Amino acid sequence: MVGLVLRSPAGGGREGDTPLALKNTIRGRDIISCRDLSRGDAELIFSLTEEVVSGAARLENTLAERKIALIFVEPSTRTFQSFYVAARSLGAEVLSIHDPEVSSIAKGETLYDTMKMIEGYGADCIVLRHPARGAARFAAEVASVPVINAGSGSQEHPTQALLDVFTIKSKLGSVDGIRVGMLGDLRFSRTIPSLCYLLSNYSNVKTYFMAPPLLQVRREIELYLSERGVEYRKVVEVDEIREVMPELDVLYVTRIQKERFPDPTEYEKVKGSYVVDARLLSYGRRELGVMHPLPRVDELSPEVDKLPNAWYFEQARNGLPLRKALLYLILGEAG
Ligand code: NCD
Repeated sequence: MVGLVLRSPAGGGREGDTPLALKNTIRGRDIISCRDLSRGDAELIFSLTEEVVSGAARLENTLAERKIALIFVEPSTRTFQSFYVAARSLGAEVLSIHDPEVSSIAKGETLYDTMKMIEGYGADCIVLRHPARGAARFAAEVASVPVINAGSGSQEHPTQALLDVFTIKSKLGSVDGIRVGMLGDLRFSRTIPSLCYLLSNYSNVKTYFMAPPLLQVRREIELYLSERGVEYRKVVEVDEIREVMPELDVLYVTRIQKERFPDPTEYEKVKGSYVVDARLLSYGRRELGVMHPLPRVDELSPEVDKLPNAWYFEQARNGLPLRKALLYLILGEAG
């Protein structure tokens, strides 16, 4: 324990509260879907992330006795690296499979066997990225240690959504009442469902799904938002996109997920169908924040990088303190 102080989301805790002013509701848990995370869970993670960013919480070497396995059966830059650096800076040992081509997965090893093998080597937590929907949930069922979903096909990417909402909160001060436009491939992007589920914990949030019909948001997400009373609007035509731009606080852009199209001719139909550039942003508010989980291809013009609206590099940077806080809450002594 390193003098960690967690304030309550309402700012209730005092400096010197020991060791944890909030109950740790994350300890020992799997992080598979944002549907499983309450507002309180998210706020707990954000409180500690803020303290990591400000230097109030120093978590270095708090997981010195732990082993964290990173199993990435799909390409990754940010998610893998930020989990790796986070785990190492917490002092944990890292077991990693990053290139499935050089592991037994290429020989046809099942996910079940990979999980059992990694557990056998003493992993205390498994971070899994996998191309199949349901893979993370399955892994959590077979593993006896916590599993973190680092992307399960087109289904979900909960730690990305956590860092996304943390970024929104740190830029705007609050998440309640915000207006978020989601533009791009809403059909196959896994960051979109997780973001929608997490935002549904906040009050009076409105989302705008800005995409051509072929890339529109999946029915399961619409149903979930309706059940939770979250207002949303589908925006399909370019003219309509321009018309709603002034209403937005955040424009969240996604890459067309070429690798997930079951039919390559469908991809050809939508390829290059949208580009966010300075001209499009000129229809929005001056303070509009542009977010993107990255990597980008051609949907977000580099000319936006120099505008104050570009939040995406800061958003990517937030992945490290957030994943540090998350690993510590799951595996550390707190709470
Ligand atoms: C995203 C992913 O892997 O889903 N990237 C990420 O984790 N930052 C988005 C994408 O690949 O388009």
